[in-house]
Amino acid sequence: MGHPVRHSRSPKLHGHWLRVLGIAGEYTLADVRPDDVAAFIRALGANGYAGGNVTVPHKVAALGAVDRVEPEAAAIGALNTLWFEDGQLVGGNTDVYGFLASLDQDAPGWDARHGRAVVLGAGGAARAIVYGLLRRGFSVTIVNRTVEKAEALAGYFGRGTMAAGWSALPALLPGCDLLINTTSLGMTGSPPLPIALDGLPRDATVFDAVYVPLETPLLAAARARGNRAVDGLGMLLHQGVPGFERWFGVRPAVTPELRALIEADLIS
Ligand code: ATR
Repeated sequence: MGHPVRHSRSPKLHGHWLRVLGIAGEYTLADVRPDDVAAFIRALGANGYAGGNVTVPHKVAALGAVDRVEPEAAAIGALNTLWFEDGQLVGGNTDVYGFLASLDQDAPGWDARHGRAVVLGAGGAARAIVYGLLRRGFSVTIVNRTVEKAEALAGYFGRGTMAAGWSALPALLPGCDLLINTTSLGMTGSPPLPIALDGLPRDATVFDAVYVPLETPLLAAARARGNRAVDGLGMLLHQGVPGFERWFGVRPAVTPELRALIEADLIS
């Protein structure tokens, strides 16, 4: 469920898992207008659905349409996955899991020490990522063009979070173990991030939540100077795992074959 939703790669992702696991199921897109989303969600079971995903702009409104919200989704203030448990419609947020699982798989040891992370951006994607980083013991500085939004997010999460504006970045990079972009800058059609990586330690990891293109200017610059760089496709693939398992009863795998399939779809 989204509005618009045509761009979603989720049917390809879940369609692949249904096929390789031999499950007779289907994952379809529903373009639902904001006024209709609560009614659509409440009718999911009656319409034969095992659950679903909720994307922009419904992730917050959906909280009010389910019987129960999982603690993680409540803490983030947004949900992205719905499923049934004992006849109740439950809402959860698998973006945190997707983010952490992607780094675990693509940058093993990234959280070996409870280091310092700099998160660029203070929107919806930043919320799940900051929450995940705090859970893994990082202290997090949220850097945003509109510093008030960074301050609001840091105030929301409290202990372990700080806020800053873009101009603070050069001073923050030397103490940074993990640099993360959650803004849309660097995405195809948007300008690149206006930052230089000078001062960032060579053993720091750089993660970009953007996945179109896979190699953003930020990741290319990070790789060129020897930093480990992780693109946003892994997060997209991994966030689908817990939902699929709840709907169909089998835990699917994020494999190189799946990644290649979705990569080809991003290019075409
Ligand atoms: P999402 O839910 O995908 O995170 P969002 O809530 O619209 O999207 O957040 C977009 C983020 O990208 C914000 O942090 C935004 O900064 P502002 O809060 O100052 O708007 C950031 N962003 C978008 N365009 C930007 C630009 N040209 N320069 C700097 N930051 C930008």
